[in-house]
Amino acid sequence: MAIISDDNFKNEKRLDSKQKNPIIKTESIEYDKTFENSIRPKTFEDYIGQTSLKETLKISIEAAKLREKPLDHLLFYGPPGLGKTTLAGVIAEQMGCDIKITSAPSLERPRDIIGILMSLKGGEILFIDEIHRLNKVAEEILYPAMEDFSLDMTTGKSQTVKTLRVPLPKFTLIGATTKAGELSGPLRDRFGIIYRLQFYTIDELSQVIKRTAKILDINITEDGAKAIAKRSRGTPRIANRLVKRVADFAIIKYDGVITAEVADKSLDVLNIDEFGLDTTDRAMLNLIIEKYDGGPVGIETIAAALSEDVRTLEDVCEPYLLQSGLLQRTPRGRKVSPEGYRHLGKNINNLQQHLF
Ligand code: ADE
Repeated sequence: MAIISDDNFKNEKRLDSKQKNPIIKTESIEYDKTFENSIRPKTFEDYIGQTSLKETLKISIEAAKLREKPLDHLLFYGPPGLGKTTLAGVIAEQMGCDIKITSAPSLERPRDIIGILMSLKGGEILFIDEIHRLNKVAEEILYPAMEDFSLDMTTGKSQTVKTLRVPLPKFTLIGATTKAGELSGPLRDRFGIIYRLQFYTIDELSQVIKRTAKILDINITEDGAKAIAKRSRGTPRIANRLVKRVADFAIIKYDGVITAEVADKSLDVLNIDEFGLDTTDRAMLNLIIEKYDGGPVGIETIAAALSEDVRTLEDVCEPYLLQSGLLQRTPRGRKVSPEGYRHLGKNINNLQQHLF
């Protein structure tokens, strides 16, 4: 069995950055991608949560179909695992069109982005993940493609240089990013709809978990689903991974049903606490408290002390720690909140209490 972390996305990035164990990485990612695809909802009815975005999208899709025009370009942003790629797939299904999925780091050379744009068919959706990582040249190729559905190609050298405008089929670009702030203004301005995906409520996550349990053919009680939901950090990708792991425990160690007790006991063994924090999250909070008097301390210092990648901490650990109020971001660095102290069972000394 592959040894994977509770949030495989985290594992993926860690192993990428440090290449600790490439064999585990390959196995677990292949394994999880297949699982993720098998449980991906295909329709708005099956897609749980993000209610207001879904309503907006349904209207835009109906209007685009009525006008026989492609949908406006869309930008989705928010922490990883909230269903940006899944939603793009649902939109394609609803529009009745094909979707090409890529990510900015694989569009390094001009010919990569030109190639993919020229391969598009009319009405098709192009999904670019991590769009904030697009380089300047690729961005400039995208501008006329998004605005006028054309490519500006140059031929010849210096004095004989000529610009050639090549028409493209009409398409919809869906960009996804965890860092909307890193997108350049001109690129951001070319999206018709910009939407931040929200963390999921316990109730929404419970529905996701029950749906996944059904697909996995495992029995789960209402309280069992809720117990997993509570430790899923508001993120369906994590919820789905946890159901799968708890299902293994339920089958092997218990009587095959995920009850609240089975879920709690299994997740305790997996080191996922009642807030859904795992060992890295807790190590981050602990370090700030123990070594830096609760902060503020810079993210680079934290990453170096934990032998972690800055991007993993910023993109994967921090959004939930910030959202749940355990961590605070200040101009001088990260600080653990009184709630964070309480969560780890630490005392705030007088000095720090005074600072808060
Ligand atoms: N799996 C991942 N995201 C989901 C969602 N929003 N609804 C249902 N299942 C999901």
